Amino acid sequence: MKAMVIARAGGPEVIEQVERPEPAPGPGQVLVAVAAAGVNFMDIGVRQDERFWSEFAYPKPLGVEGAGRVLAVGAGVTEWSPGQRVAWAYAPGSYAEQVVVPAGALVAVPDGVDDRTAAALMMQGLTASHFATDFYPVQRGDVALVHAAAGGLGLLLTQIIKLRGGTVIGRVSSADKVAVAKEAGADHVIVDTQGRFAEEAVRLSGGEGVHVVYDGSGPRTFQGSLDALRVSGTFCWYGPVLGAPDAIEIMRLPKSIKLGYAVFAHHVRTPDLLRTRAARLFDWVLSGQLRVRIGGEYPLADAARAHADMESRVTTGKLLLIP
Ligand SMILES: NC(=O)c1ccc[n+]([C@@H]2O[C@H](COP(=O)([O-])OP(=O)(O)OC[C@H]3O[C@@H](n4cnc5c(N)ncnc54)[C@H](OP(=O)(O)O)[C@@H]3O)[C@@H](O)[C@H]2O)c1
Repeated sequence: MKAMVIARAGGPEVIEQVERPEPAPGPGQVLVAVAAAGVNFMDIGVRQDERFWSEFAYPKPLGVEGAGRVLAVGAGVTEWSPGQRVAWAYAPGSYAEQVVVPAGALVAVPDGVDDRTAAALMMQGLTASHFATDFYPVQRGDVALVHAAAGGLGLLLTQIIKLRGGTVIGRVSSADKVAVAKEAGADHVIVDTQGRFAEEAVRLSGGEGVHVVYDGSGPRTFQGSLDALRVSGTFCWYGPVLGAPDAIEIMRLPKSIKLGYAVFAHHVRTPDLLRTRAARLFDWVLSGQLRVRIGGEYPLADAARAHADMESRVTTGKLLLIP
């Protein structure tokens, strides 16, 4: 079977295709045929920086997310059987034709949700669900500032905030993305890459500042996001790959804000939570309340092109690799 790996850290060019024997599922594991694998910034982090996934020796696997069909189960696995449609948010080596996934990391994909949608929903959908329903449960009337609002995560986050009765101010890097963010429900969209969005966000929130800012866009946006918050606002920071701000002096944090690093894994820390929360996302899709925008599909062998496109900031929505 074909798999994409990296022999060293570097740019997209270090990604190469290799031929591997069919993996065998061990106890508690499931072998899955991958129908679609999601591309995430985390994958770019693993590719660029050898400190990520240091537990793997080179050549390192790539990819964490996907959807497909069970091929075989290992000893002790009773809840899955060959032929079932499944999806997962975290299984290293998902950029492949087949991947071994712990049984507890799989969710069943309902009829009516296709493989591509299921793959696209897992990491970014569960992350958006964490941010807007768990880390800071958006209340009716809240005003939220959402960075990278036309990206895969931003589009899902915008829709979940709207479902909960919030107002969304999106921030995108180019005018081309405004219509995409608005289509997902963003009430206002600011075009900015230089961290100058704060004043506009405060104005659009009626002068008080926003209740919550969701910022995973790197160090450049950090100060503006602080400035955009109202008194007692919440700063949901989430972007380790795009870079952290410099050390923060706690006594310089303004306006009695709450600031935290939200990690999707905490939202799905048990198989029960994973299944309940993924099922809610699938329900929203089936009822038409949540739409998944697939911004690009690439053959598995073109993973390097998918990475380069994502890093170029021209893409919108979710990028998928199709084995
Ligand atoms: N904490 C967690 O649990 C968690 C989970 C998933 C993802 N993340 C983080 O969420 C962020 C988005 O990742 P994703 O995989 O979900 O992809 P995504 O939402 O599809 O992100 C793509 C967006 O990122 C922006 N972007 C691209 N290159 C950039 C750069 N060099 N600097 C600043 N912004 C850039 C672009 O928006 P604009 O060009 O419009 O700004 C693009 O639309 C990443 O920082 C990732 O590490 C965190």
